[in-house]
Amino acid sequence: MKNRIYPSSVNSALTANLEKSAAHFQKHGWAYVENILSEEFHQELIKNWPSRVWFNPPNQLAKSYDSGFGWCYGSPLSLNTDVYSQHKTIKKFFDCLRSPEFEKRISDFIGRDKDFICYSFTANHTYPGSEVMPHKDSIKDDSKAKNGFINIVFFINGTGGKNSGNLSLSKDNELKDLLVEPQNLKNTCLIYDSLADFYHGFSPVERGKFRWAINSQFCERSYVEK
Ligand SMILES: [Fe+2]
Repeated sequence: MKNRIYPSSVNSALTANLEKSAAHFQKHGWAYVENILSEEFHQELIKNWPSRVWFNPPNQLAKSYDSGFGWCYGSPLSLNTDVYSQHKTIKKFFDCLRSPEFEKRISDFIGRDKDFICYSFTANHTYPGSEVMPHKDSIKDDSKAKNGFINIVFFINGTGGKNSGNLSLSKDNELKDLLVEPQNLKNTCLIYDSLADFYHGFSPVERGKFRWAINSQFCERSYVEK
């Protein structure tokens, strides 16, 4: 089972719905985008989504979901290890997010006349009981990040609705004064400014519900380049 290779035949593609949401993001610091991936690529991601053996169990209480396929800028890029070489669709998505073409699209989307680059990538899998306690990312305390740090959570597949792992944004740290609570977790994404003055999180996932997601972060180039 672990030696099976999941090939990829479809080009990764993000739709123009990204650009259609740029004005909302630039005004509010966040955007929820539906049909973010081409239908063909989304279908292939679902078909080839890694089984749970490829994910690591949670190692912190505040974020109780399984994660895998992690990479962060500056880490050795070991894309020829089993995890990527056996999951061609995941690798293709990762390569797409790290491509100069997509980084240019994100820079234009953010609209600050600055170059943004892909900083991290990870896939995760939630199950009943998983939760992310509402928080602001610690990057807000890093003065080097002041030119911008953006999170993109791609919801690949999930039951959706209330208590489904639908990462939400809220003005308060109890998810009561909500800015957005995504309902559709199939081929949608939530993009938000990690330095903005709001919280993100989700309450424990209900029985019978699940969510597959890919998280990525983009930072302004000067954060990583001297
Ligand atoms: Fe966070």
